[in-house]
Formats: sequence, structure tokens, C-alpha cells
Amino acid sequence: MKALVLAGGSGTRLRPFSYSMPKQLIPIANTPVLVHVLRNISDLGVTEVGVIVGTRGPEIEAVLGDGSRYGLRLTYIPQDAPRGLAHTVAIARDFLGDDDFVMYLGDNMLPDGIGGIAEEFTARRPAAQVVVYKVPDPRSFGVAELGAEGEVLRLVEKPQQPRSDMALIGVYFFTRAIHEAVDAIAPSARGELEITDAVQWLVSSGAEVRASTYDGYWKDTGRVEDVLECNTHLLDGLHRRIDGDVDPSSVLVGQVVVEAGARVLRSRIEGPAIIGTGTIVQDSRVGPYTSMGRDCLVTDSWLEGSIALDEASVTGVHGLRDSLIGRAASVGTTGHGAEHHCLVVGDHTRVEVAA
Ligand code: DAU
Repeated sequence: MKALVLAGGSGTRLRPFSYSMPKQLIPIANTPVLVHVLRNISDLGVTEVGVIVGTRGPEIEAVLGDGSRYGLRLTYIPQDAPRGLAHTVAIARDFLGDDDFVMYLGDNMLPDGIGGIAEEFTARRPAAQVVVYKVPDPRSFGVAELGAEGEVLRLVEKPQQPRSDMALIGVYFFTRAIHEAVDAIAPSARGELEITDAVQWLVSSGAEVRASTYDGYWKDTGRVEDVLECNTHLLDGLHRRIDGDVDPSSVLVGQVVVEAGARVLRSRIEGPAIIGTGTIVQDSRVGPYTSMGRDCLVTDSWLEGSIALDEASVTGVHGLRDSLIGRAASVGTTGHGAEHHCLVVGDHTRVEVAA
């Protein structure tokens, strides 16, 4: 089996971050979403992975390299514009050949892995095996109607009036039957070749299409609040590891990771929390549920439930919560005032809030 990872697209819902980085590189628990994706694929024993990239391909390649450090061989496949998920299958045709493959959306997080679904697929080899998850509002997803035996009866992409609450998760298993379907469909009303339509084409032509209900944790990290929620979930599984320097007047509570080269001075870190390499935390309170990237600087501040990307700085801010702070962004104070701030700060943005 091969894998096709989708890391193109425009990431409009993750602005302002997607202005300056591909959304699939946003770190969750200090690891880019795409690396979490590749680890899940590697766990299946798959080694050949095609990675669809758009205009931000070079940044993705700089992070993932040739894939050898994940035990994978990566082939980058450029897509000229986000023409739809099924379009990516068409342009990967030479790479995929006639092999079975798993298509994995590069912004989907399934930290419990996909081994069980892969086993179901390989045991039965239906033309397509989709994965579904019950959601309260399925209108922003592909939606599946299922029969009693797990067979797919009907699929619709982002319906205004969903006929089921089963959303399609961004992991699909295909045999080569999908290629004929992709060739047969036309662009949707939003101008994209939808994989949902291609799978529906298979259903309509009588091919076997099955759905597995996912019982682990799943998050499409398309929006800032999803990134933060997913970070919280992953940090719940954190194990204490102190490789950096912590001075005697600092206190670390619970599951805290202080990476090598990080320094904690006169501060309280409440787990779960990660302090990345080269980051300095001084006279501050950090955590719980906070991930700080590399080379950040936190001075005289309190922050919790937040993510700071590499080289971000926070100075003199008491009560920063549920915030995502971009690369090299700086958050500071202007004077006295409110006690609570909630910020979404883009890469290289500067924000000043009342102290
Ligand atoms: O997350 C699950 C949902 O993913 C499914 O329920 C939907 O049926 C499916 O269409 C998809 O919807 P999204 O609107 O969330 O797809 P998005 O545009 O965010 O693209 C998903 C990933 O694929 C993302 O990493 C970007 C990448 N992509 C997207 C397009 C349209 C490409 O590489 N090329 C593309 O042309």
C-alpha cells in the first residue's frame, strides 16, 4: 500500500497564520501536524508516500526532507492550484500506479492512529473505505448516509441540510477503482473536483464502498480554535521530562517538559506544558495546557491554554489565555487595565495590550 498526503490548499480559515506558513506545519504539542500525519502512516508499515504541495512546497520540504527520519520515502507532487481533493489523486496517478493507497488530509489529526481501519480495509478490500465520525453540525464536512452493515448509501459534500450526522474524516482507503471515478466526475459548484463526488460515483456505479466509524480522537485543524483544542488533548498525554535548566526558585507541577537548552528562572510551570529548546521563561507562570516553541521569551507574564510558535515573546502580560501567538510575534503591555486578554496574533505581528 502507498499513501497520498495532501498538504496543498489555501488554508483561508487559518489566517493569519496561513499567510506566512502552510497550515499543515502548525505545531500541535510542538510537533507540526504533518509530522503527526506521517507518523500515523509509518505505523501502518507503509513506506512510499506522495505529498501533494502547493505554492508553499519548499517550506514543507524543508521540514520533512526526504522522509527518511520517519522511515518513509517521500515524493513531492506539485499542484498548481487547489483544484480539489480528487484533482490531487489525478495528478498523483503516475506515483500511485495501480496500488491500493491511503489518502490522508494533511490537516487532520488522529492521534490514536488509523491501524484498525487499515486492517478492516486490507481484510475486505472494498473499492473505497471512508471513515466517519459523529458531529453535532456536519454542514462543513462531507456527510455519509450509511446502511446497517456499514455500507455507504450516499455521500454529499458540505450539505446545507445534512441527512445524517456522520462527517467524513480526512482519511480514505482506495483500490485503483478510484481512478476511473476521478476521471468521470466534473467540478462541483465551488469549482473543485471533490473526492466525495468521486466516492459517490463509485457507490452509484455499484462498487463496494464501506465506512468505518472512528472511535478515537479526531480533529480537522482548519481553524484556530481546533488547533488549540487539539493541543490541549495531546498535552493530556504528556510525560514529564526536564532536559533544560530550571533554577532552584522555580516550581514545576505535574507533566512538564523542559527541552534541552530551555531555561526556567523564578517561575512556575504548571503541567501539562512544554517549554521548547532555547526558550527562556523568567518571573512568569506558564500552563496548564501550554506549548511554547523554540527560542521564545516569556518575562513577567502568566499564560495558559495557549500555543506560542518559535521566537515569540510575551512581556508583562498577566492572564493570557486560549491564544495562538505566531512566529516571532511579540505581545507586550501598554499600561494598567484589564486582567484578561484573549489574542490570536499572526506571524510577525506586534500587539500591545493593557496591563
Ligand atoms: O476534514 C475532513 C473534511 O475534509 C471532509 O469532511 C470533507 O469531505 C473534505 O472535502 C475535506 O474538507 P475541507 O474543506 O476541510 O478540505 P480542505 O480544503 O481543508 O483540504 C483538506 C486538505 O487537503 C488540506 O490539508 C489542504 C489539502 N488540499 C486541499 C485542496 C482543495 C490540497 O492539497 N489540494 C487541494 O486542491
